[in-house]
Parts: sequence; C-alpha cells; structure tokens
Amino acid sequence: MNPTTDFVHVFDPGTDTARPPVLLLHGTGGDETDLLPLGRMVAPGAALLSPRGPVLENGMPRFFRRLAEGVFDEEDLRRRTDDLADFIRGAQARHGIAAPVALGFSNGANIAASLLLRHPGLLRGAALLRAMVPFREATDARLDGTKVLLLSGAADPIVPPANSERLARVLEDAGAAVKHHVLPLGHSLSQMDLALTRDWMVAL
Ligand code: MLT
Repeated sequence: MNPTTDFVHVFDPGTDTARPPVLLLHGTGGDETDLLPLGRMVAPGAALLSPRGPVLENGMPRFFRRLAEGVFDEEDLRRRTDDLADFIRGAQARHGIAAPVALGFSNGANIAASLLLRHPGLLRGAALLRAMVPFREATDARLDGTKVLLLSGAADPIVPPANSERLARVLEDAGAAVKHHVLPLGHSLSQMDLALTRDWMVAL
C-alpha cells in the first residue's frame, strides 16, 4: 500500500460475520474513535473500520480541504477520496472483510458521497447523515443496486434543504436505491437518526 493511504484508524473485527462491515467516517473535528459508539448501536456485532481524516483545519481533522464552509476544494476531494478508496481496499485485504457499508456524518458523509460517485461498487451501501452534493459537475457513475440512506435536517444551517434534495436526485439518477428522510432537526444528530439508521442497516 502507498504510505499516503495508510490512515490512522481503528479496526474492530466485531462478532457477527453475517453483518456487513461498517466504515465509520467522522465529521470535522472528530477522530477515529468518535463514531465507534454509534456504529455499535446501529450495527451490533459488525466489524468496524474507522479512519481519521488526514487533513487538519485549524487542528481539526477532516477528510478533505474546503475553501469555506460548504465550499469544497474539489481537486483535493478527488485525491483524498481516491486515497481513502485505496485504504479501504487495503483494509479489506488485510482483515479479510467484505465491501463495507459507510456510515458518515457531515464531512465524513460528504466524502462517503464522493466515494460512491468515484468508486462505484466499493461500498455495499452508505448511510449519509447531513451530507451535501460533493461535486459541482454532473456524474456518469452507475450505482444500480447500491442502497443509500440520506438523513437531512430541515433546519440545518450548513446543508440547505435544496442541496440535500439535489444529492438525493444525483444518487437516484445514478441508479442508487435512495431513502431520504428530512428530519425536524439541525446539523446535529439525534435519536431519530440512530433509530432510522439502525432499521436501515437491518434491512440492508
Ligand atoms: C464539509 O466541509 O464537509 C461540510 O461543510 C460539513 C462540515 O464539515 O462542516
């Protein structure tokens, strides 16, 4: 593996090999330990693979650079997405695990959306919590059969409702089976996110 794709990470092999492994992708300022409790709640027994975002913004880990809040450095996003894809493939080979389902929050959900579009087939599915459209340009990716859960907040100050609607359409137009719920919430997660994600994981 290329050393630049060797992310600091946690791998928990889990106890239930029937469940797909879960790739946990934290939000800005989080790290590889942040989403472990959420992962264990929504996918009990599943293997968990949780990398730390390699970019620092004022000391806060992220998965890619941004020019301003909600304005992405798309060139960096492409490169970091490909690095993360290499890391995932390497981890699958090392640990002998199947294609993971991503569970991403905020910045982590945004790179998960980018992974779906740039590396179709790498993820078994993705739960995107407070995600935005990752790229300005249209995509020709095909995601037929890939399941996506998109949980947005109606009062999210970072992700305008029109943006998450657009993301749902982009993924649907690419053939993904998208379930989009707009919750009466802001950017932070709640018990509703947890319950919906857990139910969606069971049906995956
Ligand atoms: C991002 O930069 O990915 C989004 O603005 C979400 C965030 O991290 O605040």
